[in-house]
Parts: sequence; C-alpha cells; structure tokens
Amino acid sequence: MDEKDLGDDLAKVLIPEADLQAKVRELAGQIDADYAGRDLLLVGVLKGAVMIMADLARELHTPASMDWMAVSSYGSGTKSSGVVRILKDLDTDILDRDVLIVEDIVDSGLTLSWLVSNLRSRGPASLEICALLRKPEAVQADLDVKYIGFDIPNEFVIGYGLDYAERYRNLPFVGTLAPHVYGGDGA
Ligand code: XMP
Ligand code: MG
Repeated sequence: MDEKDLGDDLAKVLIPEADLQAKVRELAGQIDADYAGRDLLLVGVLKGAVMIMADLARELHTPASMDWMAVSSYGSGTKSSGVVRILKDLDTDILDRDVLIVEDIVDSGLTLSWLVSNLRSRGPASLEICALLRKPEAVQADLDVKYIGFDIPNEFVIGYGLDYAERYRNLPFVGTLAPHVYGGDGA
C-alpha cells in the first residue's frame, strides 16, 4: 500500500518509509552493541508493533527469539487509563532472560508502565523498552525508554503498524489522516 492508495484520506506523511528504515537500522545497531553475546528475547506488543518488530528483528545481528503479547487498556475514547487486561500472554517463561519490549508508540505511557511492572514481576535478567514513536505526554510518565525512534507531535498517527479502526496498518510510512476520515467535517 502507498500514498496513492489512500486518495484524499491522507493529510500528510509524517515519517517517510526511507526514514523509518534508516531509523530501524540505527536502533538495531544500538541493540546489537548492547546485547552482543546475550540471549535476547524480543517481546512485541500486538498489533501495532508488528511492522517494527519484523523489520528490527531482521536488521539485528544478535540472535533473538520473538514472542508476543496482546493487551487492551480500558479508557474513554482514545485515552488509555492504565487499567490493562492481557488478551494474549507470552508463550515464553522470561525468568532470567534478557527481555526487550518492542512497542509502536508511547503516548501517556500508562500501557507500557503497566507492562513493565507485570513483566518485571516474572524475574527477567534484564528488561528494556524499544519504541518507534513517542508523543509529548510521555515525558510525564515515569518510564525509561532506552531505544526511541522518533519524537512526534501530539497528533493521531497511522501507518507502519498503527491503525485507525484497524485500517492503515499496512502503510510503509507514518502519517496523519484527513479530518473527513474521522467524520469530522461531515463528508
Ligand atoms: P498509552 O497512552 O498507554 O497508549 O501510552 C499507548 C497505546 O495507545 C495507542 N495509541 C495510538 N495508536 N495512533 C495509533 O494508531 C496514535 O496516534 C496512537 N497514540 C496512542 C497505541 O496502541 C499504543 O500502544
Ligand atoms: Mg500498541
């Protein structure tokens, strides 16, 4: 899927495909340097992290296992509340493992804060976070994101795993949607 397939649904491209790919390579380089000789377990958070997980894992030279969690955070509308429910748990026992959480975006950080304390209670040898995108509100969260791709403005973004009503995940870039998609202008 590309820009042309979106017609006038797209407001703008925020991060082009080439920039995403370059950043993922850069992150993989940092992770390789930090995890050399260790037994790395990547934990992707479904569904948004699917694209960065797939690209990041293939850029790594470090052998890495992959596992997945699906969580839903209760909240009103687009705001998450920090009350999280596990929809799909890990298949892997992470006791004494070097775990790296791979996320699409940190907004309020409430979902990741909950995930970190949940996973930490399982006794991993180490636990770090890699997030492709970070919104301004995330600075208020007491969250140490070791690997961060891009700081973005406080706008709702889609593409490269991120969706609006389950659509647009398969765009190779990150962008914003025209107001009419949200029904904003009555079109
Ligand atoms: P918190 O606020 O807990 O939320 O950090 C993180 C989760 O909220 C979703 N989210 C978005 N999804 N475009 C999306 O498609 C966005 O702009 C956006 N902002 C937050 C996402 O699932 C993330 O894991
Ligand atoms: Mg997510």
